[in-house]
Amino acid sequence: MKKQIIEQTEKFVQTELGEDATGHDWFHVDRVRRNALYINKQEQSGDPFIIEMAALLHDIPDEKLNETAEIGEAKLDTFLKTIELSEEEINQIKKIIASISFKGGRKVDLESIEAKIVQDADRLDAIGAIGIARAFAYGGKKGQPIYDPSYQIREEMTIEEYRKGKSTSIHHFYEKLLKLKDLLNTESAKKMAESRHQMMERFLEQFYQEWNGQS
Ligand code: ADP
Ligand code: NI
Repeated sequence: MKKQIIEQTEKFVQTELGEDATGHDWFHVDRVRRNALYINKQEQSGDPFIIEMAALLHDIPDEKLNETAEIGEAKLDTFLKTIELSEEEINQIKKIIASISFKGGRKVDLESIEAKIVQDADRLDAIGAIGIARAFAYGGKKGQPIYDPSYQIREEMTIEEYRKGKSTSIHHFYEKLLKLKDLLNTESAKKMAESRHQMMERFLEQFYQEWNGQS
């Protein structure tokens, strides 16, 4: 029964996100799901079904992937009503998804261990080698430069600035990616973040060396 619901959900997400090129494609979702279930096992805490469902659906209502936030919400709502879930399960899944987005660094206190785990899994996929690749894919799609030393690093920003403001993909490391390891909730995710964080630091070091023409 649960297996069938997971399969239905996978299909729905594949259809909805299949073509996205901003780093929110199906493979991102699949990695988040696998990382989340791995953390769940390590921590021996949280309901694996709720975690897997929330991980699979976490990008569906994203305002960037929908005309408006309301349309995104409605898409998630409609889908959740077509599958066999209890009212409580639906509410749990919706609450997790609504609470986990980064949106410029605002810290929302997460109530459930399931939300903490899915958020950690999503954040792990924004750092390391995959995170580097996603940052430049996102930047390319938005038409932003890979780097421009004349731009300022934005310390505090509103959600609007985070989305629309001028930046470069290298700046994004300082505005978000290098901060993520300290924002993780679980010990397991913190451990997984170590080598990923080092990879980004090493990458930036080499990047500046090459930028300055001393290879
Ligand atoms: P969230 O899913 O937490 O809302 P985003 O949707 O902002 O995060 O980011 C999705 C992916 O795109 C992440 O890997 C993120 O690092 C990357 N990204 C977001 N904004 C930028 C940016 N201005 N420059 C480069 N990469 C970005
Ligand atoms: Ni995501």
